[in-house]
Amino acid sequence: MARHSIKVTINGKVYEEEVEPRMLLSDFLRDVCGLTGTHVGCEHGVCGACTVNVEGAAVRSCLMFAVQADGQNIKTIEGIAENGELTTLQKNFIECHGLQCGFCTAGIIVSTEDYLKKKPEPSTQEIKEMLSGHLCRCTGYDGIVKAIEKTIEDNKTTVSS
Ligand code: FES
Ligand code: FES
Repeated sequence: MARHSIKVTINGKVYEEEVEPRMLLSDFLRDVCGLTGTHVGCEHGVCGACTVNVEGAAVRSCLMFAVQADGQNIKTIEGIAENGELTTLQKNFIECHGLQCGFCTAGIIVSTEDYLKKKPEPSTQEIKEMLSGHLCRCTGYDGIVKAIEKTIEDNKTTVSS
């Protein structure tokens, strides 16, 4: 099958690669770029494990072909930490026991980061609705919701101080 040249910026680094047109973006990130923090669960858009940020919006990388990402800016879980330090959200996932095996965590962190930028103070119900796009088999979601709620509170303190 003919291969296509693509140029994608991921976490600030430019990747120029040749890919088959049917290669999924999730496979490109993991197998070509070595960014294995993006996980693959269902491969049909249900579990949310593969979520990455493309041009400022959280998307499921198993529902995109790598060729569709040509020329785009992508942020994966590896690019979330700031200056080598975990973000408040990441720290709160640890502190509030929002993860166990961590399989779903990367996708949830990427989605939540995007969500809180667009809606900084969601209600608990709204947080749960956002999380309904992510399947976690370990935590029962309580710790995840607490981690997000604590982040909202921490962000308020940062803004007002
Ligand atoms: S692997 Fe993409 S949504 Fe499940
Ligand atoms: S922490 Fe294991 S699937 Fe969510």
